[in-house]
Amino acid sequence: MVSIISTKSKKLKGEIIVPGDKSISHRALILGACALGKTTIENLLESEDVLSTLNALKSLGININKNSKFWEVQGNGLGSLRNPDKILNLGNSGTGVRLLMGLVSGCNITASFIGDESLNNRPMKRVLIPLEQSGAEISSNNYNLPITIKGTKIPIPIKYVSSLSSAQVKSCVLLNGLTSTGNTLYSEPEKSRDHTERMLQFMGAEIYSKDLKNGTTEIKLKGLPNLKSKHFKIPNDPSSAAFPAAAALIIPNSEIKIKNVCLNELRTGFYKSIREMGGFIKLINKKSVSGELVGDIQVKYSKLKGIVVPEKRVPSMIDEFPIFCVLACFADGKTIMSGIEDLRNKESDRIKEMVHNLKTLGYSVKSTKNSITIIGNKKINPKKEIIIDSKFDHRIAMSFLCLGLLMENGIKVDNAETISTSFPSFYSTMKSIGANLENNEWKMKIAIDGTAASGKGTLASLLSKALEIPRLDTGLLYRKVAFLYINAVKVIPKQNTIDNSILKSILANFFIQDLDSEILKSDLYGNVASIIGKIDFVRNKLKILQIEFVENKFRQSGGCILDGRDIGTNILPNADFKFYVDAPVEIRAKRRFKQLYSSDSSIDLKKIIIDLKKRDFSDRSRKNSPLIQSKDSILINTEFLNPNQVLKKTLNFIKKNK
Ligand code: S3P
Repeated sequence: MVSIISTKSKKLKGEIIVPGDKSISHRALILGACALGKTTIENLLESEDVLSTLNALKSLGININKNSKFWEVQGNGLGSLRNPDKILNLGNSGTGVRLLMGLVSGCNITASFIGDESLNNRPMKRVLIPLEQSGAEISSNNYNLPITIKGTKIPIPIKYVSSLSSAQVKSCVLLNGLTSTGNTLYSEPEKSRDHTERMLQFMGAEIYSKDLKNGTTEIKLKGLPNLKSKHFKIPNDPSSAAFPAAAALIIPNSEIKIKNVCLNELRTGFYKSIREMGGFIKLINKKSVSGELVGDIQVKYSKLKGIVVPEKRVPSMIDEFPIFCVLACFADGKTIMSGIEDLRNKESDRIKEMVHNLKTLGYSVKSTKNSITIIGNKKINPKKEIIIDSKFDHRIAMSFLCLGLLMENGIKVDNAETISTSFPSFYSTMKSIGANLENNEWKMKIAIDGTAASGKGTLASLLSKALEIPRLDTGLLYRKVAFLYINAVKVIPKQNTIDNSILKSILANFFIQDLDSEILKSDLYGNVASIIGKIDFVRNKLKILQIEFVENKFRQSGGCILDGRDIGTNILPNADFKFYVDAPVEIRAKRRFKQLYSSDSSIDLKKIIIDLKKRDFSDRSRKNSPLIQSKDSILINTEFLNPNQVLKKTLNFIKKNK
């Protein structure tokens, strides 16, 4: 079990990027499978929920791959899924299972669905009723998972009047209607998020929405559209952005900006409500991307007042109520949230979990079957650390971690691994703006820094084998960026000739992968890497990736090793072990000479010494994260030691001090 502890933090400051939108990511994969040909997806959210949908689609016969920039979905056209050879496990994902059940019901196949404990307890009747009407044969565990669906190739076009405003139900019905020969009609009381409609339209479907006289909205989809495969550029998730935004609103003197967020008005009710509470929220740099409004969210610490959230607004902030409850605790007066009964059917019963936990902390909170009322601005600072169980609900976990940022003794959230269902980089992103978060499960983070050719890379690689934990040579990240940059501009850059906009676009799609190429080891990329490594935005972006890497590897393998030049000082200041590897420059030069001589007999030892001295100077004098030996690191002088002796010495130290 992973636990994360959040404690009182000073102001949050900086510019961050939250991951791609979860709803749109599921839909891009699913709709890509319906089109004929290759759909490409940029900024797909690679979280557990979305990967569950991706894997289920693979089992249904869809080819999905990632190239160095985008995900590619090879769609076979409408209705062309194949019988899966195993039960489709959608893990924690309500969106994944409900949308896929709609898709499968419109194909001539049989598929069974299951999920984790939380998903298996969530109601599925809401989608099974319309699917049965369209002709699907369904067997279920009393309308719960596990469910088996025998689809029909030509579903009956249905007119479905939903009593719920649910984008999952709507999307399920629409996906099912894609293969039907007539028009599918769907109406809901209040408009729910309309990504499916927008994306279908973007792909060429005839789909219309009209407001009816009774105040509801009706969608009409013409069956058998000619869906074109497209490129989807996914904006970042406003529901994930809600957590750092809320934390910045309640931590004095904070000011943050969250970039490229989806600002579809059916997703931004939370931000509208904050404005009504008197909070500083600005939506800026708005533009349209792949049919969605996208922009930056600027947030400043604000004094808040309580409000009554209009019931009409509930669908547009449905996922934000847990964190909104936290905000309400810091608002003057009463905040009333009603018409929110469906929160009881989310990843957990969110009304129950929020009310119970906030009350335990001492806040004034009341609830009914379908409402929560909070009287805010009560100063609460528990005398000891408070422990909250996430109940495997990512948004409950993140809400209480944000609240803990105001508590002297902190809040510890157990079962915090659930956060990776929607916001895998939550920990590193929040830390990068100053949030005090600690992950008590990180038993062995090892930081190795040192001068060029000191043997730090060899030590890192030997340690990684000996301890059986992964290693990341962080220098290769800079070299890979240099490689991509040179390939893009086709000239070798010098100091001050870097084109920042090209570099930024390279970084926007940069992942930690394909670092093992021999090409990256050449001096050319090393030299350009050292120029690029001086640029703040490069270091900041690579810092987030490195922290994320450590987090993920810890979960998978119980630890990891990072070697570079600012690991112990900047990337992992709280590493369990910090080593600083060094040797006199002449010794290092001799080693490099030996290494290079076999392939190039013209090399000159004196020149290597000069180059190494230059490199040392440049590393040490760099403004951002210079190479220095931190006080809490262990110096390993490799002058008189061979690699195995260095390894032995380091392992002995680890064993003694573990
Ligand atoms: C979603 C719709 C909402 C939301 C969920 C994602 C979607 O659920 O809570 O996180 O992607 O369609 P409901 O449709 O059940 O309200």
